[in-house]
Amino acid sequence: MYRSHNNGALRLAHAGQEVTLAGWVQKVRDKGFMIWIDLRDRYGITQIIVDEERSSKALLETAKALGREFVIQVKGTVIERESKNSQIPTGEIEILASQLTILNASLTPPFTIEDTTDGGEDIRMKYRYLDIRRNPVKDNLIFRHKVTMEVRKYLSNEGFIEVETPYLIKSTPEGARDFVVPSRMNEGQFYALPQSPQTFKQLLMVGGMDKYFQIVKCFRDEDLRADRQPEFTQIDCEMAFIEQEDILEVFEGLTRHLLKEINGVVVDKFPRMDYDDAMRLYGNDKPDIRFDMKFGELNEVTQHKDFKVFNSAELVVGIAVPGGNAYSRKEIDKLIDWVRRPQVGALGMVYVRCNEDGTFKSSVDKFYNQEDLAKWAAKTNAKAGDLICVLSGEINKVRPQLSALRMELAERLGLRDPKVFAPLWVVDFPLLELDEETGHYHAMHHPFTSPKPGQLEMLDSNPAAVKANAYDLVLNGNEIGGGSIRIHDKKTQAIMLKHLGFSEKDAKAQFGFLMDAFEYGAPPHGGLAFGLDRLVAILGGQETIRDFIAFPKNNSGRDVMIDAPAAIDDEQLKELNLKLDL
Ligand code: AMO
Repeated sequence: MYRSHNNGALRLAHAGQEVTLAGWVQKVRDKGFMIWIDLRDRYGITQIIVDEERSSKALLETAKALGREFVIQVKGTVIERESKNSQIPTGEIEILASQLTILNASLTPPFTIEDTTDGGEDIRMKYRYLDIRRNPVKDNLIFRHKVTMEVRKYLSNEGFIEVETPYLIKSTPEGARDFVVPSRMNEGQFYALPQSPQTFKQLLMVGGMDKYFQIVKCFRDEDLRADRQPEFTQIDCEMAFIEQEDILEVFEGLTRHLLKEINGVVVDKFPRMDYDDAMRLYGNDKPDIRFDMKFGELNEVTQHKDFKVFNSAELVVGIAVPGGNAYSRKEIDKLIDWVRRPQVGALGMVYVRCNEDGTFKSSVDKFYNQEDLAKWAAKTNAKAGDLICVLSGEINKVRPQLSALRMELAERLGLRDPKVFAPLWVVDFPLLELDEETGHYHAMHHPFTSPKPGQLEMLDSNPAAVKANAYDLVLNGNEIGGGSIRIHDKKTQAIMLKHLGFSEKDAKAQFGFLMDAFEYGAPPHGGLAFGLDRLVAILGGQETIRDFIAFPKNNSGRDVMIDAPAAIDDEQLKELNLKLDL
């Protein structure tokens, strides 16, 4: 038996017991005649004591030879500590060692294995196995496990069946590029790794599974951000014989369950907002509604004077920053610099100070009088003491710019409290989205999403106006899930694919299997997928998903620990028929 207890288990009640512990040496304090060892494992830290008086000379020698991160086994007696440590659960006892075995030595780790470490991101990723020994990373992985268990429990109780779908498939268009895998046995042909199990879960509905879920890896070759990884995990779900309302209810239930079980937070019914309203009021399809600062559209009250910048703008829009009048001129200038950074891209910013005495002072006083500015204040809901920030330009540009400013200011004002949870359903998404570069429409969610009843006909006359039976679940300004009611008949699917620019031949080649299945009694169905990494990070009060993934990729999509991706040798290339003659 390697150990009788773990390093978080022993208390004063165990005093006098003979125990065996094992773990890593966190720290050794050597006073010459007395040595203390902090022994660590996943469960905690227990103090070991070796001293001249009570221990053998050999034992003292072994203890003196220990280094950080050595793996040891200790036998000894639980005794009451003289100076207790109230910071840790085992702080009232220590183990008087009678035997100490070095199971494995360790090199000095390249960074300290402590809650706050001296290791930078790169080195911690290279030695991720050491990073995982640190509490913050370890606790995040345990937290993820708890969330996953609760998800499985909840969905299982609701009658969902977990079914695995293949990873070696054909492309599923979810808006990113595919990772492809060459087939050795089928020369010149490739599998694609799934961007999601979308088509398979629909086929499971045709197969009569009725309620499916899967905690599943998805692969997308896209640019990475704090909330994006090239391989990530979804809680993927699909249901048959349902309407949008049924889906929202089930997954609102799941989210409410998680908030209660994991965070101890009780949330009422989730509010819902149309996509159009989200864009108009927050400039964003995933608004953070923990705080207000709603957009006030100002065209009507700004475009009647000689200020050309506003007069020529498609949209003039502002937000009121609570207490922002306290900003110095220098601070406001810095804010203007901030919105002009290329990442935000605004050309400039007009501002209005709302003085305590009810008067206004703006950066465009030359053009607008007090009466005008009072109207701006009314539209942006600004109070005395606030600062109104106004941007103008093309709708598609100015909305995301002001949205970025809103989030930045909220962060600075401490309005994005990670302990507060504000879920929101965003519904009625457009079916199609215009790709500005190519001038073509593509599916905003994916090509299998159904248009709202009666809107299919509009695809020819006014494609941008067609709304979809599609919905996103937003939590604290993050899209944690999205889904739709699907098309379930061949004819509609063919029309949809035609509008997305697929020829009949291409549509058949790529999606023939799905459309064929629709001809064999496909039930009405729909579903949704949560991004598990994002969900876990936000429930854990953070927004960087990397911290909740055991072995994540860096921003260039590399695993720096195993050094992947990597070249493969000529032999392997040849076998896969990939040897390029350049
Ligand atoms: P969608 O593409 O919206 O829908 O993805 C669902 C959820 O997955 C998460 N997500 C990601 N998380 C981390 N890294 C990424 N690169 C990444 N991409 C997406 C998001 C997102 O809300 N098949 C459909 C679902 C359906 O219609 O049922 C789908 O995949 O949280």
